[in-house]
Amino acid sequence: MFDVQQTKAGAHNRRVRMAEVNTTAKGKKLAHPSARAPRIFADTATYSEIEPLYKAGIINGVTTNPSLMKKAGAKNWDQVKEISQSICKLLDPNPVSLELTELTFDKMLEQAEMLASWADNVVVKVPIGGYQAVDPSFDPYTGLKVVRALWERDIKTNCTLIFNSTQAFWAANAGATYISPFLGRLADYAYKNDEVEKAPGNSLYYIDDHKNEKGDQNVFNTEFVASGGKRKDIGSRLINEISAMFTNYDIHTEILAASFRNFTQVSECLLAGADILTVPAPILEKVADHPLTDEGMVRFVEDSKVFDNEPAMA
Ligand code: G3P
Repeated sequence: MFDVQQTKAGAHNRRVRMAEVNTTAKGKKLAHPSARAPRIFADTATYSEIEPLYKAGIINGVTTNPSLMKKAGAKNWDQVKEISQSICKLLDPNPVSLELTELTFDKMLEQAEMLASWADNVVVKVPIGGYQAVDPSFDPYTGLKVVRALWERDIKTNCTLIFNSTQAFWAANAGATYISPFLGRLADYAYKNDEVEKAPGNSLYYIDDHKNEKGDQNVFNTEFVASGGKRKDIGSRLINEISAMFTNYDIHTEILAASFRNFTQVSECLLAGADILTVPAPILEKVADHPLTDEGMVRFVEDSKVFDNEPAMA
């Protein structure tokens, strides 16, 4: 894992704030202790996954894409609209990203206006590039031009499919409200191409736990991180680079880290300086769990049975 930085000034300021926030004065309400922490969004278009996470206070935003819409059961635009509006209503006023599917400037603007008209909390998701990969006759700058045009129209954008810090910079320059670096896909790519040894055992972060839905990666930790691969933390390094760049130049575009595979990437990303993490529901559903938490909890409950007589009255 990359070096964790903590400044002495930061630690000092935190302790000063603690005394103000965790007040002991009678009658004074507790301020929230992590008001400036990164926010967590759910990366899904499935209402039944979003609702319990939102009601539990785990998320305050949602990101979708055409693949997630399809997975949520949408088969036509009417259904995309219905799904989107129900999520927007539930989340209001928190942001919900809806992705453009058109590929040319005029049509993308028209579609963006349509998506933005569905609810006040819609954020229009715009792929930064790849237009010529779809059709070599397309304009390679379409995404950036659309982001700029939407900024001029006061429509919030989430510029997506970001894989390096210069793409992040150009998206911010165009006026993106959010940028979505895909750290998981980048880590997958590096993993495949690094030919690292997959055997666990060479990292403090490895514990034996269950696999993800596809059965190819551990959920709580990752064999990739455990493997000691040269570029094992390439995804979080990307977030760290963007964070340093945006901090140095006071760029207000929010870094919305995306494409998570496991909790190790989540914690690395929190350390790397992301503003928001959009995390798939199967990972979010386990935020409170850990195999050792389960083990400890079972023991506490078992041991507390010794007190199962009349509760002491104060
Ligand atoms: O928000 C972007 C995300 O949905 C991409 O995730 O898992 O397809 O790499 P994934």
